[in-house]
Amino acid sequence: MEFILETERLYLRKINFDDVDDLFEMDSDPEVHKFIENNPVISKDQIVEVITMLNQQYDENGIARWAVVDKLTNECIGWAGLKYFREPLNNKSDFYELGYRFKRKHWGKGYATEASQAILKYGFQNLNINSIFAITHLENKNSINVLQKLGFQFKETFDYEGDLTNWFELTKKQ
Ligand SMILES: CC(C)(COP(=O)(O)OP(=O)(O)OC[C@H]1O[C@@H](n2cnc3c(N)ncnc32)[C@H](O)[C@@H]1OP(=O)(O)O)[C@@H](O)C(=O)NCCC(=O)NCCS
Repeated sequence: MEFILETERLYLRKINFDDVDDLFEMDSDPEVHKFIENNPVISKDQIVEVITMLNQQYDENGIARWAVVDKLTNECIGWAGLKYFREPLNNKSDFYELGYRFKRKHWGKGYATEASQAILKYGFQNLNINSIFAITHLENKNSINVLQKLGFQFKETFDYEGDLTNWFELTKKQ
């Protein structure tokens, strides 16, 4: 499978239907979903729907979350990438948001940070984006830690579907 980016330990490529089992392992884990709507998936059909939606985003926006693959084992360990938001969120529209999600057994290895660094570089240099945003639940310490390591600045807290959520920004200059 053709990859888009390569880091020291990872390949990043488009997510495809061969990833169903790996994404199901990740997204059926309640710990993984604790700070993201708290609604883990219960069937592989739900993952198929997500992958279909991602394929649509690749076609429409040229970019979406990418599969993160361990170079040594070829396992899809999670996803990370830029999602294009056309519709308004926190009074902002037409922007790119960085997101990431990994199987729990792969937390604490630096993969989220490593993948995100490559994605941010791609966004700022190849796509010429000026500002990339990130949103995360107030109590999602692991995610906030990643954003801070990447250099994101906390901007404000806003109400995201009833949950208090942190809004972060990283500009090209920074
Ligand atoms: C958010 C999430 C991706 C963070 O993953 P993570 O593994 O904690 O993040 P990192 O990649 O930064 O790795 C963290 C730790 O790995 C450690 N590590 C181990 N080996 C490492 C290596 N070779 N290189 C770098 N770091 C390494 C680091 O010490 C780091 O901890 P520190 O920053 O406190 O020193 C993960 O918790 C997750 O998938 N959560 C569920 C989904 C979610 O909430 N997504 C975000 C929604 S906003």
